[in-house]
This record gives sequence, C-alpha cells and structure tokens, in this order.
Amino acid sequence: MNIPLALTYDDVLLVPRYSTVKSRSDVNIRTKLTKNITINNPIISANMDTITEAEMCIAMARHGSIGIIHRFNSIEEQAEMVKKVKRAETYRVDSPYTCLPNLSVAELRQMMKEKEVGSFIVVDEDDRLSGIVSTRDLLFADNTDLVIDVMTLRSDMITGAPETTLEEARLILQRNKLEKLPLVNADDHCVGLITAKDIKYKMQRPFASLDHDGKLLVGAAIGVKDDYLQRAEALVAAGVDVLVIDIAHGHSLLAIEATQQVKSHFPKIELIAGNVATAEGTDDLIRAGADAIKVGVGPGSICITRDITGCGVPQLTAVMNCVEAARKHDIPIIADGGIKKSGDIVKALAAGANTVMLGSLLAGTDECPGEQINKGGQKVKVIRGMAGYGANLSKNLREKKDTRDVFQITPEGVEAVVPYRGKVADVLNGLIGGLKSGVSYCGAISIESLQENAEFVRITQAGRIESTHHDVKVI
Ligand code: XMP
Repeated sequence: MNIPLALTYDDVLLVPRYSTVKSRSDVNIRTKLTKNITINNPIISANMDTITEAEMCIAMARHGSIGIIHRFNSIEEQAEMVKKVKRAETYRVDSPYTCLPNLSVAELRQMMKEKEVGSFIVVDEDDRLSGIVSTRDLLFADNTDLVIDVMTLRSDMITGAPETTLEEARLILQRNKLEKLPLVNADDHCVGLITAKDIKYKMQRPFASLDHDGKLLVGAAIGVKDDYLQRAEALVAAGVDVLVIDIAHGHSLLAIEATQQVKSHFPKIELIAGNVATAEGTDDLIRAGADAIKVGVGPGSICITRDITGCGVPQLTAVMNCVEAARKHDIPIIADGGIKKSGDIVKALAAGANTVMLGSLLAGTDECPGEQINKGGQKVKVIRGMAGYGANLSKNLREKKDTRDVFQITPEGVEAVVPYRGKVADVLNGLIGGLKSGVSYCGAISIESLQENAEFVRITQAGRIESTHHDVKVI
C-alpha cells in the first residue's frame, strides 16, 4: 500500500516574500463565508456549547466576524438566541414594543426586563401614538403609578416620517438632544423607531457584519436526524442568516440527505455542510447543495476522534485537498479546529481556506457561556468537546431524557479548562494583528493575494523548536 504523507500546521512554515505593505492596516482580510455572504474578517466562533451563544455572536458580528450558535439546546432556546442577536442592533426597529397608557409602572418594569429594552411606545386603543416612556421616566416612579402619569405626551414628542434616513434621524436627535425617534405615518401609527444607540454602533463599527436591515449576522447549527427540519424552520423564522449542518462525519448519507432536504425546504438560506477531510466529501456535499464546506476531522483541541477511531487527516493536508475540490465549484472552505495561534490562521488561509473556525482560541472569554471558576488560584473557564459526556449529559438533562443513555456512547471529546481571557474583542484584535502581519510577510495585501503568493516549506522537529521561544526562561 502506498501511504501518502499528510501534514498539519506545525509541519510547515510560510516563506517570507518581498512586501510593499507599509502598515498592517492596509491589509484587507475581507473574505467569503459562503457563496453569498461576505464578512470583514475570516474568524468564526465554533458551534460548541462552551463557546457560542447569543453574547458571543453579538461580539463576533460587531467585530466583522460571525458566531454559530450550537444546537445542544431546545429548538425554542436556540431560536430565542438568534432573535436576541437580531434585536441587538438595527438601522431601524420596525415593530417597536408598545403598551397602553393605563398599564401600571410595575407591569411596565416587568415587560422592560423581559424584553430587555429601555423604552416602550405608548398607544391608544386604536393603536395611535399617545406617548413614549423610557427608563429615565421611571427613575422616581412608584410601582402603582400608571404609564400615563410618567410618559412623555404625544404633544411634546418629536417624530419623523416613515421614510426618514439614518443621517436625517441623527441630525434630528442631535439637534433636540434626544435618544429615540419614533417614525409615524399619516394616521399617527408608529411604524418604526430609530435610536441614537443604533446610530452610534453604525458609526463606531463600519466593519460589523450586518444584514440588509443593519442587524448583526448570525449562524446556527442543526443536526441531521429527528427534528432537524423543524429546528431549521424555527431558526429561519427567527431570522438566522446561515445554517450549519453539524455532524462529525459529514461524508455520509445522513449528511448528504440532510443537506439536500434543508436546501429544498429553505432554498434561500445559506447552508454550510461538514465536517469532511477529503476532496470526495467536499464534492459530494457541494453537489447536495452546500454553500460552504467545513473541513476538519479530529484536529480540535478537545477532540479525541483520531485516538478513538484511528480516523482523520492532519488539518493542513485536509484543507488543501478540500480546497482543490471546492475551487472547481467556487465554494468557500472553512478550516475548522486545530488552530492554536494566529500563525495557524495565516497558514490555513494560505492553504486556500476562506475562513477559520475557532474553539479553544476564543474559549475563556467573557462572551463564552459558563461561569469563571477558580482553579488552584487561577481564574479559568470550561471548554468541552460536543461528542463528550458533559455536553451530551447537559443536553439530555435539558430535554428531560434518560441520562443513562449518555454513558452508552464512546466519547470522542474531552472536557478541559482554559485561563480566563477577558473580552473576546481583545482576543480577536490580537489574532487579527498576527494575521495581517502574516499576510504582509508573504508579500500579500489580501487573503486572495496571500493564496496566490504563498510558498510553504516543510520543517523538521528542530525547525519547529526553533520556531518558538527557546533557551530562555519566559517571564
Ligand atoms: P479548536 O481546536 O479550535 O477546535 O478548539 C474546535 C472544533 O473542534 C470540533 N469539536 C470536536 N471534535 N470531538 C471531536 O472530534 C468533539 O467532541 C468535538 N467538539 C468540537 C469542532 O469541529 C469545533 O469547531
């Protein structure tokens, strides 16, 4: 048998090449996530229950990236997370929350808490604008007061026409020192709301990942069995931008059929399918309708698939093989798992991937689900494999299923802790800085030119040792 050699990130280095880049800020890292979605940086957060829920998605999208919400939850919980991301910001709120003037302040406070908003539009029985009430008005109000006692009356309000632009709204809000501009039609019905907070977000972060309505982009994972189509339907209804078929062995009849089914039921939704590690797997999923392919069988930090099953392909070779197949269809590749440092992101992209999916490198940040724990005097957070006992035990507990079933599986993932790392934005800034530097070392200015210019060399163990700090005691 002729056994080919397969390589991973640590087996290679990129050869430095002549560069004209004067500043890292000149490097463009915009890239394709799927056939029809482009994002401003190539880092995606993994669909793992210790990495990505709504908070992570909001932070990732505000940074120009995207998060994929895991599926180890009920359909309702996952759809609610998608809605939360979609509500986080917008160009204009199309259906602002409303209440009647005779509502008590206690009820209003409760509704504000539940909906996580700081203001309500007050309407009369015919749904006509009567006023607006915000947390500022409630500062000194008693619970027994009524909304009508504390709200700003219609006659004192400044409103805009339904077609008011963001720039027009900014000027009106600035001139009148206001935070909210209700948009009102000729019948005095409130048909929208523009807020100073949303305008500020758009000005501060022109690179954020946004949909046509100015809402943050968000992805969510689905399985391939049981209620996966109902899950897809609920996520699409909640406004998800991209679905991810999440199965460890994506080159399988189950994954191919699920890809076909999702595409035929929801032809407009962008669909990522995976995980595969071969050109054949890539080709089959693309023919089934996938809009991007997720590559990686067993490279992840918490994966033991290769130990347990003896199967997998070292990640650099897997990415290169899949890229070759995907290029023929002009479909993007996501390099998923095994990225340990920013240099690996550069190598994955140079090998042809369009984006990288990260688990452990984003773990331990504030936006990851789960609490900080104190372990031996150090603040840590948990990361766990989705094919391990912990994640499946939690899933069964949530779904009120027999937890004994979980111990029938042979786990292919482990549980671990990583040091607490603070805000994910700071981690992303570090990774993006390294990535941009790497692109310029390769004589490139963008991800496309990196892929054209990249020249890899294989290195030895001695080369590997030389490639990180050595012979010094790091302080
Ligand atoms: P990193 O290295 O970024 O990898 O932490 C994250 C990726 O690991 C995959 N994953 C698993 N793979 N068993 C596996 O073999 C597991 O239990 C498991 N959980 C997550 C997944 O592709 C993720 O994006």
